[in-house]
Amino acid sequence: DGELVVAIDGPSGSGKTSVSRAVAQRLGLQFLDTGAMYRALTWYCLDSGLDLTAATAAGDEKLAADVVEAAVELPLTMHLDPEHETVEVDGQDVTAAIRDPRISGAVSVVATNVAARAVLVERQRRLIEQTGRRVVAEGRDITTVVAPDATARILLTASPEARMGRRGHQLGGTQSRADLHEQVLERDAKDSTVVDFMTAADGVTTVDSTELDFEQTVDAVIDVIRGSK
Ligand code: C5P
Repeated sequence: DGELVVAIDGPSGSGKTSVSRAVAQRLGLQFLDTGAMYRALTWYCLDSGLDLTAATAAGDEKLAADVVEAAVELPLTMHLDPEHETVEVDGQDVTAAIRDPRISGAVSVVATNVAARAVLVERQRRLIEQTGRRVVAEGRDITTVVAPDATARILLTASPEARMGRRGHQLGGTQSRADLHEQVLERDAKDSTVVDFMTAADGVTTVDSTELDFEQTVDAVIDVIRGSK
């Protein structure tokens, strides 16, 4: 089969990770979750003893330089098979650990570091090449920065209510509304200071999943991909 790079961006709670994985499975493509790379770098920084507390991190140039250094040396292995993706740092399987709220709470400090982003973006481009350009890559800046030359470029959105509802469901329905607001809308607000993933760039097709269930969203994304080939 020929080259098929699918780039999918969107805010948290839009369902982009699970939708992207299902699309990759349906189309026989590899799956690259770039958010997992920002999370893995965050895990590595914390494991190396860096204090990523947002309050202390702001304007701390030494810390910013340490984060860039960590990005450069990050001993990361991404397994891109959508049937069992794993993330390893220094030979340790961190696939589950990087989903911890401790990581979600600190990841914005890493993701707003422009020089660290550049290092991860380079790695993401290399990973895409290593798949033979047969991959669904998902994140915040894939359609615009990492793979603007992708075969299909999609922005997956949903209303703020729907996104908070889905994240709450994912976390088992135990979170308060205030917690969900912080974890979904406030994290997006922080992240969108460096990358704009709320509006579709030129040539990017928006799929709004607010009124769609999971299978309908996967179908809608696959329709866009068919139309882009
Ligand atoms: O998608 P996920 O919630 O796992 O992403 C974790 C964090 O990684 C996001 O909150 C964002 O800060 C960052 N990220 C990013 N650019 C990407 C993917 C993720 O800045 N392409």
